[in-house]
Amino acid sequence: MKPCSQPSVYPSVTHRANPQAPNVVEVEGLRKSYGRTVAVDEVSFSVREGEIFGLIGPNGAGKTTTMECVEGIRQPDGGRISVLGLNPRRDADRLVHRIGVQLQEAQLQKRIKVGEAVDLWASLYAAPVDSAALLDQLGLTAKRGAKFMTLSGGQKQRLFIALALIHDPEIVFLDELTTGLDPQARRTIWELVLGIKQRGKTVFLTTHLMEEAERLCDRVAIIEHGRLIEMGSPAELVRRHCPQREVIFTSTWRGEAAAFEGLGSVTSAVVDDGVFTLGGEGEEFVSEVIEFLAATSIKVRDFRTVLPTLEEVFLKLTGHLIRD
Ligand SMILES: Nc1ncnc2c1ncn2[C@@H]1O[C@H](COP(=O)(O)OP(=O)(O)O)[C@@H](O)[C@H]1O
Ligand SMILES: [Mg+2]
Repeated sequence: MKPCSQPSVYPSVTHRANPQAPNVVEVEGLRKSYGRTVAVDEVSFSVREGEIFGLIGPNGAGKTTTMECVEGIRQPDGGRISVLGLNPRRDADRLVHRIGVQLQEAQLQKRIKVGEAVDLWASLYAAPVDSAALLDQLGLTAKRGAKFMTLSGGQKQRLFIALALIHDPEIVFLDELTTGLDPQARRTIWELVLGIKQRGKTVFLTTHLMEEAERLCDRVAIIEHGRLIEMGSPAELVRRHCPQREVIFTSTWRGEAAAFEGLGSVTSAVVDDGVFTLGGEGEEFVSEVIEFLAATSIKVRDFRTVLPTLEEVFLKLTGHLIRD
């Protein structure tokens, strides 16, 4: 398979977190084994205030274990973790009011109603947010009286987000939030997660969906077999590991595709039934092609650029697709 050639559905991420923001989570040399299985092996990273940070990797990579150690739910074997300057195990009582947690594969009593669950969760905290407003924000107002078991997968996940937000936490942890949801429900959740960030919260999420990471995350850390193998913004990682770009356009021009190969940044050029596909690298590539088309007065019917995705970064780094 040819790496670095799939179209990116979301080529540009418009939101950017402040790179000067202080770290709200710091993890250094985290280790955790279950018997002989090393789940997390010397993992270090930090999460900045106000960003969406994604721990991404395939099933079994160690994402949930890492996240649960950071939340204080799991006891690490080694390493240092600080969350809002606190130790998640020792200071659990203080931290519980400042972080919101959505667990992978969470369940509720099946007959509990949405409104009852929210009220119950609210009763656990000294200063909960307004539950009606929260349900409204998550599009669950009409489901207030619905039993948990009657909710769709997307509605259940929205309820879990509501429960994680009930005490207005500073950091929200979301573990594989959209796994198993259909594309429509997934998009709704993505909008909600971006909304959480826009209200000034920090989001720490895990996902094995590269499109989700690309869409949501300011920065990602790629984890495989318990080890972090790369870290950075999705765009940085694509630039670093998959600098190839493609320009595809349709034209009635009858010239040779090879004419484009004279341009410095073009590395390949083919034409098939009037569809020209040019491969190239570097900042100048797309402009060079456009300037050549203009200078040669070649008329094009459509024109698009294709950027590599995080999926291809993963493939490049590991030699296999994340779906494997
Ligand atoms: N409670 C557990 N007992 C034994 N092994 C576990 C347990 N939880 C996770 N593991 C193992 O640890 C590794 C990492 O799992 P996990 O952190 O759940 O990864 P991910 O969330 O990336 O899928 C896997 O090999 C998994 O089988
Ligand atoms: Mg997991």
